[in-house]
Amino acid sequence: MDIGSLSRTAVIILGRVANDEYLDVNRAMWDERVPVHVASDFYDVAGFRAGTDTLRDFETAEVGDVAGRSLAHLQCHFGLDTLSWARRGAKVAGLDFSAPAIDTARQLADETGLDARFVVADLYAAPEALGETYDIVYTGLGALCWLPDIERWAKTVAALLKPGGFLYLAEFHPFADTLDEETGTVLTYDYFDRSPQEWNEPGTYTDGGAALGAGRSIEFLHGVGDVVSAVIAAGLRLEFLHEHDHTLWPRYKTLEKSGTSYRFSEGRPRVPLMYSLRATRA
Ligand SMILES: C[S@@+](CC[C@H](N)C(=O)[O-])C[C@H]1O[C@@H](n2cnc3c(N)ncnc32)[C@H](O)[C@@H]1O
Repeated sequence: MDIGSLSRTAVIILGRVANDEYLDVNRAMWDERVPVHVASDFYDVAGFRAGTDTLRDFETAEVGDVAGRSLAHLQCHFGLDTLSWARRGAKVAGLDFSAPAIDTARQLADETGLDARFVVADLYAAPEALGETYDIVYTGLGALCWLPDIERWAKTVAALLKPGGFLYLAEFHPFADTLDEETGTVLTYDYFDRSPQEWNEPGTYTDGGAALGAGRSIEFLHGVGDVVSAVIAAGLRLEFLHEHDHTLWPRYKTLEKSGTSYRFSEGRPRVPLMYSLRATRA
């Protein structure tokens, strides 16, 4: 699992995933999670209603001023980050394949008086579903692991960008997936294995997931090299690729909380836990 404190012991490597089976399986799991996430401390919807910005400092610094710029947020979940960009002055659209997530996002936009458009669609259908192009395509933090074809993803992003517009991706670093959950020191999982992975685990990555039954999901690993190569092959010019030494949850039990981030303890050798990149359409 790319996000969450779930154990990886239950993983079954699938030899093959039947066509688009992953879409129905994953959509059902995400639909079920939405009310739990909305009620969770992790997402702190009350704080968001009261004005909290949910974006991470490195994201706002790396994206820069969004005032007056159009921004599409792909795989926006129930829209907190999308609406945080709207609070910063962007003209936003959010897209997700989960109808309950998008219903919640629309409600939150209404309640907070923020102008935003939210659309239910599969990621790969985004250009048709959104029907326009943008200055900025923003995505990540647990998004790419749900997509089987990273080259098709990059082409989809490129099709959504205006000339001169850019993709900003912030994602959990796939190298971090290779280490054991207890200590984060033992190389345990294969970085290069691209077989789809099936998960059958109860709960979710937020608090409040105890009521959720086993949520079957199908996920896909994409190395950093695969993602960067796909972005370049889609015709975008890479501006930077940054690796970060912190993450958003205690993916190893040894990480220490520091503000809203989790970090290695002082003096311990570190590995990258997140990465971010920006790439521009000529
Ligand atoms: C971890 S969340 C996104 C992370 C977001 N940064 C957040 O924490 O709010 C992943 C999202 O991807 C969406 N998703 C997964 N597969 C998708 C697909 N094929 N098309 C569109 N959305 C998809 C899920 O519904 C979910 O809302």
